[in-house]
Amino acid sequence: MTSLFDPLDLGATRTANRVFMAPLTRMRATAPGDVPNDLMRDYYLQRAGAGLVISEGTQISPEGKGYADTPGIHSAEQVAGWRSITDAVHAAGGLMAAQLWHTGRVGHESLHDGALPVSASALEFRNRTSLKDEDGNVVRANCPTPRALETDELPRLVDDYRRSARNARDAGFDLVEVHAAHGYLLHQFLAEGSNQRTDGYGGSLENRARLLLEVVDAIIDEVGADRVGVRISPIGSFNGLDSDDDGEGGLFVARALAERGIAFVHLSEPDWAGGPSLDDHFRSQLREAFPGVIVGAGNYDLAKAQRLLAAGLVDAAAFGRSFIANPDLPARLEAGLPLNAPVLETFYGGGHEGYTDYPALADA
Ligand code: PHB
Repeated sequence: MTSLFDPLDLGATRTANRVFMAPLTRMRATAPGDVPNDLMRDYYLQRAGAGLVISEGTQISPEGKGYADTPGIHSAEQVAGWRSITDAVHAAGGLMAAQLWHTGRVGHESLHDGALPVSASALEFRNRTSLKDEDGNVVRANCPTPRALETDELPRLVDDYRRSARNARDAGFDLVEVHAAHGYLLHQFLAEGSNQRTDGYGGSLENRARLLLEVVDAIIDEVGADRVGVRISPIGSFNGLDSDDDGEGGLFVARALAERGIAFVHLSEPDWAGGPSLDDHFRSQLREAFPGVIVGAGNYDLAKAQRLLAAGLVDAAAFGRSFIANPDLPARLEAGLPLNAPVLETFYGGGHEGYTDYPALADA
């Protein structure tokens, strides 16, 4: 029987195990310029034992930034910063994916010189984002009603994604993951509640998925389908967005991605964010829609991951909070050893505390 500690053929790569590090916003990039730094390198290097390290969301453009001090992947300085991180992870025998992120309406005008965040439609919604005050403390702020993107801006947006994928390749990433989940821009187009467009990008599910698939096709053109993954979060409520379609949007996207032969679909299950638990019926529908590699995530523990792996419903599992607290998580899980508890107060912002100072067992 396959175990989480077996290798996995993942597109153009082969991972050493199936315990992946989930993408995790940590808000510690260097300002100004949102540049990945040595502290971030140390953090990722500590976690290089993951079968695949997936980077925190990294904005594809200044417009795509929605939180303070998140890193970008649109400037030469940022690419150089990421390069030193991927070099370190590779030297330790790991693999790394860049999560390409545009937060859309989840953002704030103070991050954009006063310009409003953009989205599919200019709809009022209730949600907050995280900024920093003058002392670097994280403060929460309401997201404003966004500006709707014009139809003739969308080719530029697709180009921003394309360029970010090229930059990810130049920065040494093995794979890219398109963030199409959690109520960020591509999900805002996909979901009916946030998309009231009357052009070819709104209305039918096919139209609402169009931007995502154009983005994926541009990225495939740039790096090859076998280096592309897409993260989706069907069902549940994220960032002021309700996926009220019983998962139909996610299944439609998964079928379209299967036709393209991408390396993986990353399913973020809603219960990590207080949403409902997915059932095996939905997971089986997803498996039918996407016969390639499915990475499952969202409040997984070892038992849940092993069960879904044995049932053929996922091929790997990504761990978030437990990877924050346990740099050597795969080794601990494999040996059945206890886990450090994550400290919520240091998830976002700050320095090394709660970031690079969680002990590995070898330190104990
Ligand atoms: C967050 O910063 O809370 C966050 C970021 C990206 C996600 C989900 C949550 O996909």
